[in-house]
Amino acid sequence: MEQLPKHIGIIMDGNGRWAKARGLKRSQGHIAGADNLKKLLRHIQKWDIPYISIYAFSSENFKRSEEEVSGLMKLFVTLFQKEFQFLKKENVRVCFSGRKEPLPEKVLQSMDKIQEETKLATGATLNICLNYGGQDEIVDAMKKIGKQLKDGVLDINQIDRSVVEKNLYQNLPPLDFVIRTSGEKRISNFMLWQSAYAEYYFPEVYFPDFNEEEFDRAIEVYQSRDRRYGGIKDENKNS
Ligand code: FPP
Repeated sequence: MEQLPKHIGIIMDGNGRWAKARGLKRSQGHIAGADNLKKLLRHIQKWDIPYISIYAFSSENFKRSEEEVSGLMKLFVTLFQKEFQFLKKENVRVCFSGRKEPLPEKVLQSMDKIQEETKLATGATLNICLNYGGQDEIVDAMKKIGKQLKDGVLDINQIDRSVVEKNLYQNLPPLDFVIRTSGEKRISNFMLWQSAYAEYYFPEVYFPDFNEEEFDRAIEVYQSRDRRYGGIKDENKNS
């Protein structure tokens, strides 16, 4: 299979361990992760991959120390207001998945700003999962569908997968490939609906070290996989 994934997901794990291994603070690990992300996003533009989803902050991450959470929130504001400006030149459309509550107003404003500034971009789509949980996304979709049933604009017999998909946070194609860095082998509530048939890859490097070369290796791994979507390979059908 020489095909490229149409939609790739990256669980950017290991910033904290990367910092600890160097005697640095966790916040410095997140800054290193953000720097790496910028390089990686530039690099990914060279590949023809139209959709990229990244896990920036899970709903559960609010359980971390107040110092770490507020450091990350500040980092998000700087990234969306300043450092991600290059995405405009790269013609990348930025969108977000997740709940607004309890994100600070400043973060919400910076998210709105970058979404608005890039909404007409015709290149790749970067979906940033922030204050995101895959189960919450399905719950929120169920609530929207419930309201449509109650309002009489949808009939129960019309509910199928496409109706569920239309009510998720963003209208995105299924994930083909999910990369989780740092060697941890868990999904951790990342895009559960969209990853039903995704291939997974768990490189043994922390996210700040997951560089362009590592990314190219990941694509090679994807291309060596045999995707069957629950079926069997054509040549084996009759044997
Ligand atoms: C997981 O590593 C990483 C995070 C919770 C934050 C990810 C954020 C960035 C890479 C900053 C830039 C992001 C965007 C999209 C604006 P960890 O802290 O759980 O690491 P550990 O498992 O080693 O402790």
